[in-house]
Amino acid sequence: MHDQAEALRLKMLKAQGKTARSVAVISGKGGVGKSNFTANFSYSLAAKGKKVLIVDMDIGMGNIHILFGAAPNYSLKDYLNGSRDLYDVITPLEDRLSFIAGGSGLETVMEWSESMFDRLIEGFTTLQSDYDVILFDMGAGATQNSLDLIMAVDEIILIATPEPTSITDAYSMMKFICMQDAERTFHIVGNRVLKEEEGRDSIARLQLALRKFLSAETNLLGFLPDDLNVRNAVVAQTPFVKLYPNAHITRRMTAITDSFLIGHQPGTSIETSGFLGKLKSIFRKGRA
Ligand SMILES: Nc1ncnc2c1ncn2[C@@H]1O[C@H](COP(=O)(O)OP(=O)(O)OP(=O)(O)O)[C@@H](O)[C@H]1O
Ligand SMILES: [Mg+2]
Repeated sequence: MHDQAEALRLKMLKAQGKTARSVAVISGKGGVGKSNFTANFSYSLAAKGKKVLIVDMDIGMGNIHILFGAAPNYSLKDYLNGSRDLYDVITPLEDRLSFIAGGSGLETVMEWSESMFDRLIEGFTTLQSDYDVILFDMGAGATQNSLDLIMAVDEIILIATPEPTSITDAYSMMKFICMQDAERTFHIVGNRVLKEEEGRDSIARLQLALRKFLSAETNLLGFLPDDLNVRNAVVAQTPFVKLYPNAHITRRMTAITDSFLIGHQPGTSIETSGFLGKLKSIFRKGRA
């Protein structure tokens, strides 16, 4: 009964065109630039008028707040355990851009109580109608809860550097995802590219392998150069797109953002209804 009501509610949200795109930013090996990408991409989306929420899923080691120089008072955990309201755990960062800190202890996600789980569904149902894009910055390593979340989102942005280790690990990660459920949109961003041609070749090889062996079609959003401005912006605790609006890397991020938004202009249909339904079935299965 509860499930049906939930499904109906989602349908209504969708009909009103108020359902956010839920997107997980992932990689194979860690440290390839997911958090810096998420911070700058979200800023760029917000600058283009989209209302964006970042959810920092890097449990216990979240750093989105550092990249923005923000000091969150509460995390998702405070909402889930009932000690805070949903809007208390959302920290505003910029115009149209907010975030939820991961906090610590979420790794015990499979032991969440029924009430925590219901709050999760309730929370994201509300948030899906508040935002245009919800971006999950996934942590390094594949914990059970991060894999569950990856299985539930509508879209995945895979960050890979041209290094062979990053490419092979990216392939393994995609293989894992595709073996469970290939029904989603996969985007790829090549990061820390030193030479454009080299970067293009590596990513093209990855795309080819994904198509050939996993039948997975991927949408290349673009490339970001290896740039000292990234490090300088981290030190300044300000996204590079804000700090260096005219830099080459900022123009690249703008192009990536445009590419992401193509085909998703207001009025066009957005296939985003699956997120909550999938999340529910995954967690229910996990607890059974
Ligand atoms: N395009 C780039 N040019 C130069 N340095 C970069 C670039 N992208 C990321 N870096 C640097 O790489 C390091 C790792 O970046 P980041 O923390 O964003 O990676 P991550 O994938 O989120 O890591 P983790 O897997 O640990 O969460 C940082 O020191 C960052 O400054
Ligand atoms: Mg990170």
